[in-house]
Amino acid sequence: MDYKRGQWGSNFGFLMAAVGSAVGLGNIVGFPYKMGKNGGFAFLAIYLILTALVGIVIMLGELAIGRKTGKGIMGAYLSFSKKYAWIGFLGVFAGLLILSFYCVLGGMVTRYMVGYLMQILGMEGFAGQGSNFLEYLLYDYDSMLLYFFLFMAVTVAIVMGGIDKGIEKFASVAMPALFFILLFIIVYIAFQPGAAAGYSFMFKPDFSVFSDPEIGFWGVFKAAAGQMFFSLSLGIGCMITYGSYLSKNENLQKNTIIIPLADTIIALMSGMAVMPACAAFGVAYNKGPVLLFVSLQTIFENMGTFGNLIGFMFYFLVFIASVTSSISLLELCTTFQIDLAISKGKNPNRKKISCMFALLALILGLPAALDALGSGNALIPAPFELLGYEMGGAGYAMWNDSWYDFYDLIAEGIVMPLGALSLSVLIGWVWKTEIIKNECELSGNRFIGYRYYNFCFKFVVPIILSLIFYAQLLDFFG
Ligand code: PFF
Repeated sequence: MDYKRGQWGSNFGFLMAAVGSAVGLGNIVGFPYKMGKNGGFAFLAIYLILTALVGIVIMLGELAIGRKTGKGIMGAYLSFSKKYAWIGFLGVFAGLLILSFYCVLGGMVTRYMVGYLMQILGMEGFAGQGSNFLEYLLYDYDSMLLYFFLFMAVTVAIVMGGIDKGIEKFASVAMPALFFILLFIIVYIAFQPGAAAGYSFMFKPDFSVFSDPEIGFWGVFKAAAGQMFFSLSLGIGCMITYGSYLSKNENLQKNTIIIPLADTIIALMSGMAVMPACAAFGVAYNKGPVLLFVSLQTIFENMGTFGNLIGFMFYFLVFIASVTSSISLLELCTTFQIDLAISKGKNPNRKKISCMFALLALILGLPAALDALGSGNALIPAPFELLGYEMGGAGYAMWNDSWYDFYDLIAEGIVMPLGALSLSVLIGWVWKTEIIKNECELSGNRFIGYRYYNFCFKFVVPIILSLIFYAQLLDFFG
């Protein structure tokens, strides 16, 4: 068997792909929305602390284990012992779940992007619905399916191209483009009258949310933690997978700092585009994913002549960000199967494997595409509706009970923290932090901060993750 598993062509390419995986809907929609809902600055402060204590540590753990074993999540755990196979399995399963709803949302983003393009060309892009278009689209099942399928097709086409010729090539062009478009939008928004209130909401120290009985400290903590895992693509083996294609010459520690840093900067920049825009046009900050589709559309409508162009640029940017994330999710699954075939002495067919997982994700995503995101009275009922609960009628107020939320709860709420907890306990107590140090030093750089990492793997990460589970249980038994 002469199968070549592939490798990143350059460290820059790897970084663009890894930052591309991290930067996505989670930054552009999730971050501003969760920040808006959880007290602005207080959320930001906890998010940054968690990123330093947990995010960076798990990122290093994942990249190092991936590069050391040269395998995706399942293969990596199996090369230590068969008894860890369940962690790999859970990771791939959660990756598939996220991929499915991510592509539904990505499809909706694509539909808005096309809508603005049509408007620019003088056509009616939103079926005459203006900013009520979301409600229309959610029940327009043909469009929901068509754009879901299209978005998945783009994802699979890139993954079929392989690591360096597909993912790396796309991310190396797309990520710098994303950065400059975002910068342009931030500057444009900054000049809108009334924008300043948005910045002070983000950056003025204010912890009053901790005494809010509805949210409180644990509420903010849980939201920031979930956001961190999701945004940094941690806990399900995405970074193990990307690390497995990295050359031994690259400096892992440096990469480990750059990825979360870039991810946080882009999240903050997205906040600096979205929040001041909300402030300038009198739209609430805490509107959830509705923010992406309704509030922003209202804003672009009110912008006058340039509204369509800015709208198109914005959704194009979100489109790029979502594709670079969805390809990493599909790659996580594809690599799993490729490694499996190699370990059995077979020659894997990347194209066939990635199509197979895309098909699986399409099937899994069907209820998420056809439940009108939990608005009620949809073709496929939302999970709680299926169990016989009343849905409170049409309108997207019931967003919390959609298939999308259900899948997200399993992935972001359970599997990601569990995956990170297992990894840190194994590294800290079973395999010992030395294996990370030795792997990092292969590139000829001295490992910096051994004591810090050792302490975090052994104690800090497990304790914080236990607290996250505690906060989730509190929520559950409310
Ligand atoms: N990090 C991506 C985002 O913020 O949108 C989503 C994501 C990608 C989550 C890859 C998990 C993953 F493995």
